[in-house]
Amino acid sequence: FSSTSDAKPLSGCRVIVTSGPTHEPIDPVRYIANRSSGKQGHELAAAAARLGADVTLVSGPVSIAEPAGVRIVRVSTAEEMLAAVKHALPADIAIFAAAVADWRVATPNTSKIKKSTSDAPPALTLAENPDILKTIAQLRKGRPPLVVGFAAETNDVVAHAKKKLKSKGADWIVANDVSSPIGVMGGERNAVHLLTSAGVESWPEMSKTEVAIRIVTRAAAHLATLKR
Ligand code: CTP
Ligand code: CA
Repeated sequence: FSSTSDAKPLSGCRVIVTSGPTHEPIDPVRYIANRSSGKQGHELAAAAARLGADVTLVSGPVSIAEPAGVRIVRVSTAEEMLAAVKHALPADIAIFAAAVADWRVATPNTSKIKKSTSDAPPALTLAENPDILKTIAQLRKGRPPLVVGFAAETNDVVAHAKKKLKSKGADWIVANDVSSPIGVMGGERNAVHLLTSAGVESWPEMSKTEVAIRIVTRAAAHLATLKR
């Protein structure tokens, strides 16, 4: 038997997923980054591919295995990630799981900053990075019908995430407590709240694989209602 359309609810659909951290250069040998492993984003891409989607995974620098059956675009900075996401449009679903650096060094040094050239530590002047989720969620032309953001919080998780749902223009926000003792950043498990226009669902702790399957299955069902 070949699989039926029930088993592949995303066949014919295009999905973009961002994953991992970004690296923002200070000079040719140093950068600003964060603790994101890319596990949750890569699992989302893999899950969408298993449901039959044509998946573009835009990944920051990660050390985990590449998921099977997806198109991978590797980037390092937030600006590169935004360009890659725009290039991957159009899409039916866009999921922004990357931990994008909020700031970059305004003017990275073209040569290595030497310790010996001054007696004080160098000061870094930062510039704000583009907000990739917000940019895509607020597109007037070519906005994916389902835009899903994440919220990485350490306190008042749902309250902060509710604000993000509004301010970003996303359809859904998946909120996770990155200070939880289960070790969300870098770990294998996650406990998330799904925020939609219908309200908040708090899911029990489960593996990142299971979180991904549930989100992507929900996304497929939602997309079907939009197309009906
Ligand atoms: N995001 C993005 N581009 C950025 C910053 C964030 O696309 N420059 C996306 C993330 O991928 C995530 C969502 O926005 O889907 C929320 O990221 P988060 O860091 O939790 O929120 P911020 O809006 O950056 O606010 P803060 O870090 O101050 O909590
Ligand atoms: Ca941020």
